[in-house]
Amino acid sequence: MKKVAILANGGDVSGFNAVIRGIVKTAENHGVKCYGIIEGYKGLLENNYIELDSYTNASGIIYKGGSIIGSSTNANVFNYKVEENGQTVYKDLSEICLENVKKDEFDCVFTLGGDGTQKSARDLFLRGMNVIGVPKTIDNDVACTDITFGYNTAVSVATEALDRLHSTGETHHRVMVLEVMGRYAGWIALESAIAGGGDVALIPEIPFDINKVADKIKERIEKGKRFSLVVVAEGAMPKGGEITVQNVRDNGAGVDNTKLGGIGQKVAKALEELTGLEARNTTLGYMQRGGTPTAYDRVLSTKYGAKAMELALQGKFGVLTVLKNGKLDSVSLEDVVGENKTIGAVSGNTKESNLRRVTMDDDLVKTARNIGISLGD
Ligand code: F6P
Repeated sequence: MKKVAILANGGDVSGFNAVIRGIVKTAENHGVKCYGIIEGYKGLLENNYIELDSYTNASGIIYKGGSIIGSSTNANVFNYKVEENGQTVYKDLSEICLENVKKDEFDCVFTLGGDGTQKSARDLFLRGMNVIGVPKTIDNDVACTDITFGYNTAVSVATEALDRLHSTGETHHRVMVLEVMGRYAGWIALESAIAGGGDVALIPEIPFDINKVADKIKERIEKGKRFSLVVVAEGAMPKGGEITVQNVRDNGAGVDNTKLGGIGQKVAKALEELTGLEARNTTLGYMQRGGTPTAYDRVLSTKYGAKAMELALQGKFGVLTVLKNGKLDSVSLEDVVGENKTIGAVSGNTKESNLRRVTMDDDLVKTARNIGISLGD
């Protein structure tokens, strides 16, 4: 093992740089040269990369948000969006990736990304590229791992937002709605609601009845609490209703880049009518992804990076680094994003993907119910 390359793909999270640093340092300790591919799969296609060095360009980055090697949201190199003669067409460009990696003699490519990124990684592995995935996303929805890097920071940001909404909501006797990200999974909403003292958490996994939510708020009013905190996941939907979509962005088959958002405003409006309290919505948005990672994310990212390099040294490819019951481990990418029918996997980054969503027996759901957080059902 002489040369390895790192590729960061998909929406950014706090912790990208800490993973990169973990890989670079471990590689250097074993005399392996490390390269950073610029802007994810785009850089792999364009053969655009830089050498990384923990004393120069990869130094002092553990606390920095974003990614020093950029990231691209176009994850599917097998159906890649390109402009040709003023027309948008989709092409299988995987062969170019394979050729570039071969030509540059990269012994392994680390793919830092969510399920869309890992789906391409798995397919490139099946065509002969040595890949090792690292599970990234604030949504915490990658299968086969307890946690993805970036998630803890997003929860912390949402929790701080709730603390701030708490005081203003209490002062003005309002229902304060906080819309958080998470796509088709309610992890951020549920965990931040518990951490931030939320009264209601609406998550995609439990379609809500707005009257039940209003009942909870009215019960609080009767008990003297003339304000409430309602956390709404962007993917939450009413019973029998639809998910709220801002726009549908077509990035080719196999990758769902539909922009969710807007449910918080709808919930606030309905609650104002049903409870008699004023209601205000705050959509937290990209605050959840930017800026400095929490200590937890720095450590998790470093562990994932070092583990990924360790796996490369062992020649263990086609896998994803994971955390299982608190222990670092690895699982086959096939199990994470493949067509493994026993775990119900479909293709990457779609509604039907093998996403890890909140289950009703999860401790977070049980805890929320035990302490009286309404889940809208
Ligand atoms: O998957 C991470 C995420 O931040 C989601 O929570 C959100 O729905 C989406 O990305 C936003 O994507 P974009 O950066 O394309 O607007």
